[in-house]
Amino acid sequence: MSMVGEALSDLETRAGGRRTVSGVVGSVETLEGEGFLVRRPFPQASFSEFDPFLLLDEMGPMELAPGEAKGAPDHPHRGFETVTYLLAGDMEHKDSRGHAGRLRPGDVQWMTAGAGVIHSEIPAGEFARTGGRMHGFQLWVNLPQRDKMMNPRYQEIPNAQIPKATSADGLVTVSVIAGEAIGKKAVIETRTPIIYLHYRIKPGGTARQEVPSTYNAFAYVVDGVGLFGAEGERVEDGQMVMFAQDGDEVRIENPADAKATLDVLLIAGMPLSEPVARYGPFVMNTHTEIRQAIEDYRLGRMGTINS
Ligand code: FE2
Repeated sequence: MSMVGEALSDLETRAGGRRTVSGVVGSVETLEGEGFLVRRPFPQASFSEFDPFLLLDEMGPMELAPGEAKGAPDHPHRGFETVTYLLAGDMEHKDSRGHAGRLRPGDVQWMTAGAGVIHSEIPAGEFARTGGRMHGFQLWVNLPQRDKMMNPRYQEIPNAQIPKATSADGLVTVSVIAGEAIGKKAVIETRTPIIYLHYRIKPGGTARQEVPSTYNAFAYVVDGVGLFGAEGERVEDGQMVMFAQDGDEVRIENPADAKATLDVLLIAGMPLSEPVARYGPFVMNTHTEIRQAIEDYRLGRMGTINS
């Protein structure tokens, strides 16, 4: 093949092909809520957001002694969504709009804070008393300007209702929290196009996920070591890998000689490309709107929790 032919075929592969890796970051350990340890790939000092995503926290995995489980008591949110996905443990949720919910392993809570809620996220039931294994994730998804002041909305989906699919070779399974994978569509509705998938890949398996090339896309390794993107970059437990916008397929492989299942979250979304003004639990478009959020919170306009 001529040089020109090679260049053309390379371009063709790229246009409809596999995305390459644009960066890998490690998590920073930090304390949240009443003092529970989280691993946080972002935001960090050098990496504040990944439009439309504002934060990802991994809680645990850890073994908690009796009475040791901690949560995040009453605190506000405005202007974005919090998505909680529990893998182990038992959490209870209450808020200033009179809403209450419970999260058990495999369950997802997609809370659209919109104009504002005050909520508490605390350990529940037997788990709060006796402890045990705790593991979960919280993702913050930014809202477009038009939705920042919308009425709060909850979608609580128990594990049994989260669509799951397995590849033809039986090596890849996926839980479809948002978007679509291996022919299964999510039941959760998102305000802007979002993909949130939990892949479990056995040794020798490969996930090939369609992700529109305009979306920002990243994967977070929950457990194991995998090969990511067109170049097969090696990424391990606790690291986040970002993909370039140079194709419409994300490839994740667990090498055939791997000892364990590769456990990965694959998350992608259409960028909002709007200004971000951010202060703790408030994420708006301007500093004036942030000042308003702080004032509304101080004046009790986001309500209080009736316990
Ligand atoms: Fe919260």
